[in-house]
Amino acid sequence: MNKNDIIIRRETEKDYRQVESLAREAFWNLSRPGCFEHYFIHIMRDHEDFVSELDYVAELGGRIVGSVMYCKSRLRDENGCEKNILTMGPLCVMPDCQRQGIGKALLEHTFEKAKEMGYDTVINFGNPDNYVARGYKSCKKYNVCFEGDIFPAALLVKELAEGALDGRKWYYCPSDVDKPCDDAEAAERFDAQFPPKEKGWQPSQEEFYIHSHSVINL
Ligand SMILES: CC(C)(COP(=O)(O)OP(=O)(O)OC[C@H]1O[C@@H](n2cnc3c(N)ncnc32)[C@H](O)[C@@H]1OP(=O)(O)O)[C@@H](O)C(=O)NCCC(=O)NCCS
Repeated sequence: MNKNDIIIRRETEKDYRQVESLAREAFWNLSRPGCFEHYFIHIMRDHEDFVSELDYVAELGGRIVGSVMYCKSRLRDENGCEKNILTMGPLCVMPDCQRQGIGKALLEHTFEKAKEMGYDTVINFGNPDNYVARGYKSCKKYNVCFEGDIFPAALLVKELAEGALDGRKWYYCPSDVDKPCDDAEAAERFDAQFPPKEKGWQPSQEEFYIHSHSVINL
């Protein structure tokens, strides 16, 4: 693959189903048997917190091979002062195109766009392996936590402007954009619109469990 052949562009309505299929391929059996990320993408686009200006795809030879999306979220300090930030995700790349710099290109492109829009902080949950090279750090390093002073190991923070978070304690207030994903039956009904695919176990599910249940205490 020649990196110069990758086109990074905004998603259009015509791309919707192709992007949902891409997410289904990329996330299938990764963190659970099957996946719901294609459903998440489907409902996310209609949510008030969805940031359509940062909805990008990567195209290679006329085929969409990568996608990234963002939504609005907030940080609140101990005095109740709030700051508007971005939550990144889902981010996905077609399995046969992974580890060739497409995810990196999507993130770096959209970080620049986010800066132009005035944002200085991006947060997401994820496997740190995928993000530390992009400058993400543990939430603990920036004193960003959930109510109860919980610092999840998978809560990763990227400052788009150095010093944006200035060391004070921040509570992360995510959007409720993923709430409909709690409805497993609706997600299943949506998945039934795609070609049948076998659900199963793979070791990444245990890795996901470990990452998503770990907190940083020291
Ligand atoms: C995670 C994902 C989006 C990354 O996209 P990608 O195009 O495969 O990744 P890139 O080639 O751009 O590499 C991004 C970074 O991942 C890391 N990486 C690359 N290859 C790696 C490997 N073999 N092992 C561990 N980390 C690796 C590196 O830090 C790399 O950054 P660098 O090139 O500056 O060192 C993609 O693999 C994917 O879709 N995975 C399935 C869905 C998923 O997990 N999404 C993220 C949810 S947390």
